[in-house]
Parts: sequence; structure tokens; C-alpha cells
Amino acid sequence: MARSKIYCARVLPDPIMTAIRARYALVHEPPDHSPSRPDLQQGFSQADAVITTLTECVDDTLLACAPRLKIIANYAVGYNNIDVFAAGQRGIVVSNTPDILTDATADLTWALLLAVTRRVVEGDRWLRTGQWPGWAPTQMLGGNLTGKTLGIIGMGRIGQAVALRAAGFRMPVLYTSRRPVAIPAGLSWTQCSLDEVLTQSDFLSLHVPLTDTTRHLIGAHELQNMKPTAYLLNTSRGAVIDEAALVIALKTGRIAGAGLDVYEHEPAVHATLSRLSNVVLLPHLGSATLETRIRMGMICLTNIAAVLSGNPAPNQVG
Ligand code: DGY
Repeated sequence: MARSKIYCARVLPDPIMTAIRARYALVHEPPDHSPSRPDLQQGFSQADAVITTLTECVDDTLLACAPRLKIIANYAVGYNNIDVFAAGQRGIVVSNTPDILTDATADLTWALLLAVTRRVVEGDRWLRTGQWPGWAPTQMLGGNLTGKTLGIIGMGRIGQAVALRAAGFRMPVLYTSRRPVAIPAGLSWTQCSLDEVLTQSDFLSLHVPLTDTTRHLIGAHELQNMKPTAYLLNTSRGAVIDEAALVIALKTGRIAGAGLDVYEHEPAVHATLSRLSNVVLLPHLGSATLETRIRMGMICLTNIAAVLSGNPAPNQVG
């Protein structure tokens, strides 16, 4: 029997590529960069199943080129790159990779929080220039974490994993959430309005999906409401923040600093951000651990196998 055809938009870690080759026929070898639109169209036109990543825009025009496509397995928990409604109209299933990247993303959020507060990257850069004159009492002073308030916008899986880690720093957590949250015994987690979280937090961490409602959720007005000593952290999607407004807030000292893993117009980063010393910038590394990226691939394959054999996808979205 002929093997089903898979189009994989990007090269995935070796064990996943090996598993794909063992089970399916690849439409063609995936590139190590985001494919051009014609390549994407060609891939979609021949595939029974596709694996996309957050860098591929899957709109109705692209779906119109895909007569035999049954499932789009998105190699990400976020799926704002896909027109899920249009896919549904065409009977194409869309799946994502929830749960397994929760810890990696929460860890990276804390890496950003610690790095920006204790000036880790700034210190490393200074030392490497060979200009460090030795220890001094007033040198590169950062801020304490212990006992400070952590604000979380979006208390889903990743938001809760970030909040759990705050217990180690004895930090109370304020959060917003659309859904009820089961608060673990003994932890100080309090649900608040967005305004309360903005005005009372020392660290504000964003964990909402990018939708029409959350685009520019944090803009000039919200930044104005934050404490001037507060830090903003974003490991969700760049466009949740109005990046131009953030640049002004950082330049004028409206807030103390920011730790960013995601950007409004990736891979472009607002030129001023790279010049500011009160910002730590990472290249979208939230889920970037080998174990996590392998598990994400396995989840894509599980969903594809289910749909191609006529069963529901365990991680269908929309
Ligand atoms: C996701 O899964 O949405 C991440 O941003 C990709 O690592």
C-alpha cells in the first residue's frame, strides 16, 4: 500500500525526522529555514498531512492549494499562524503541542526574570570587554526578588508553572485568568483585575495566546499603570505587547526593564531595544530544549497517525 505523504515545513530534531521517514513518504526534504510561499504551496498541494511551525502563515489561500490535506500538525502550542476556522471549513484538522513545553517555557521565563533583575547579561558583556576593574560596593546593583510580587497575565498551564516556581522566592502571585484556577495548598495566588495586576506587580509576566483580543494587550496605557520599578517579561507572543510603546516606556524609565523572548515582527526586533541595557533579549527560545522539541515532534506524529487512520486527533484545536 502506498505510504501517506507528509510535508514537513522545517527540519525537526533527528529522532523526529527518522520517525517521519520510517512511517511516511516526505513530499520533499525540509529546509532549515522558513520555506518560501511557493515552496509552501507546493508542499501543501501534495500532502495528506503537514507539520508546520509558528513561522509559516497558513491562510485560506494556502489551504485552497491542498486538495488531499487532512491534518495540519502545528509544531507549537500557539497556533496564531493558522486560520483554524478556514481549515475547519475545509474539513482539515488542526492540532498543537500542549503540556510538554510548559516546563521549558516556564524555566526560560525565570531565566529572563533573573537575568534582567540581576543584570546577568550586562555583567557578562562588561567582563568580556576586559574592562572590569574588580569588585566595588556600588557596582552593577540589581534588585532583590524575595518577597516581591509576581503578576501573571494568563494563568493557563505555562502561567501556573511560572507561578509555582515563584514559591522558591517566597513571592506572592497576582493573576488574571478567564478560567477558574485550582490554587495549590499553601500558595499565595490571588485572582485580580488586569488593572490590579498591572499596578501592584513588581514583575509582570505574559502567558496569553495571541488573538484579536490580546493583540497589544500591553500598550502605552498599561505600561503607564505599572510601577516604575517593575519589570515586564514576555515568553508568549510578541504582538501581545505594543513594542513601540514598550520602547518608549523603557527609554523614559517608565518601567525598570524587560526580559523578552518574542517580538512583534519576528525575526525583526525594534532597533532601539537592542541598544537598551535594561533589556534582556532572547531569540524565541521558550521551548528550545532538545527533550521538549523531540516530544513536540512525537505529539505531531501521534496526531497525524490518528487522523490518517480515521480517528480524532488527541490535540485538535478550534
Ligand atoms: C509555541 O509552542 O507556541 C512556542 O512559541 C514555540 O516554541
